[in-house]
Amino acid sequence: MGFPAVRHRRLRQSVGIRGLVRETVLTVDDFIQPIFVASGTGVKNEISSMPGVYHFSLDTLEEEVKEIVELGIPAVLLFGIPESKDSIGSSAFAEEGIVQQATRKIKSLYPDLLVVADTCLCEFTDHGHCGMVHTYERDGHVCGDVLNDESLDLLVKTAVSQAKAGADIIAPSNMMDGFVQAIRAGLDEAGFSNIPIMSYSVKYASAFYGPFREAADSAPQFGDRKTYQMDPANVREALREAESDVQEGADMLMVKPALAFMDVLRMLRDQFDLPLVAYNVSGEYSMVKAAAQMGWINERAIVTEMLLGMKRAGADIIITYFAKDAARWLREGK
Ligand code: PBG
Repeated sequence: MGFPAVRHRRLRQSVGIRGLVRETVLTVDDFIQPIFVASGTGVKNEISSMPGVYHFSLDTLEEEVKEIVELGIPAVLLFGIPESKDSIGSSAFAEEGIVQQATRKIKSLYPDLLVVADTCLCEFTDHGHCGMVHTYERDGHVCGDVLNDESLDLLVKTAVSQAKAGADIIAPSNMMDGFVQAIRAGLDEAGFSNIPIMSYSVKYASAFYGPFREAADSAPQFGDRKTYQMDPANVREALREAESDVQEGADMLMVKPALAFMDVLRMLRDQFDLPLVAYNVSGEYSMVKAAAQMGWINERAIVTEMLLGMKRAGADIIITYFAKDAARWLREGK
């Protein structure tokens, strides 16, 4: 036998043979496209740190959703930019809230397009935190504690109002303890026992959310989110978070952000049998866009490799601002 004994290159010789042995494939069926909905009419404002991503008002939303449906993307994730904010985020659970209105509109136009509702308060509170806060002054600075159990009632109200508006999936992203159990009970009681919960189980306190906070105008006005979102240094803690969500009745688990946390995706895939979601977040999008605009990278190749990496790491579903682009690329083929 000649040297080398094993020739790995035999299976890489041609497009055909590489296709035969390919282990991971991307399909449009796995994508969820996030959309930002704002009040007003005729709005289509590009988010400066996220080129190609816009705020839409209810009227301009129509064209965007049509494009998403035509591309075969099965689901959208809605974020709302409300007209007014207050300390408890009441526009998060108002019947005429922006997300509720957008949900009704989308479902009436395209009943088969899945609407995923992000259940959180930070876009709707004047302080920008994901729950109710108790504020106080210390050394002349405003400080605050995010109140866990008090916030749960508001989050349940939000989830139920989203389900009433027609949301197909409830995706709580607030990181309060017990949110899955509370929301499950609230949905069941309101007659929505068939609505699944896609839990943001493992959500890190990440700088990769920076552009989103500009897009959603949701940066915390004091403090940060480190008392409720996870420390990026921890992975055993991620297993504990996921475990309690499973026990509380979550139907899908999520890891967020994705790129810097591929090991966490893999770990959850190996330890749990629920469908797993990767959230390819705003900062991950902006970095690629900026480098591509500079001509430093090949956007299509980079995005394809990133999304493939998330699937290879164990994700079944990917939430990504690149969903429309990736769907187009998949349609165009090689
Ligand atoms: C709401 C929420 C955030 C994101 C999704 N849901 C922001 C945050 O936690 O600060 C971030 C999404 C992204 O960066 O693309 N809590």
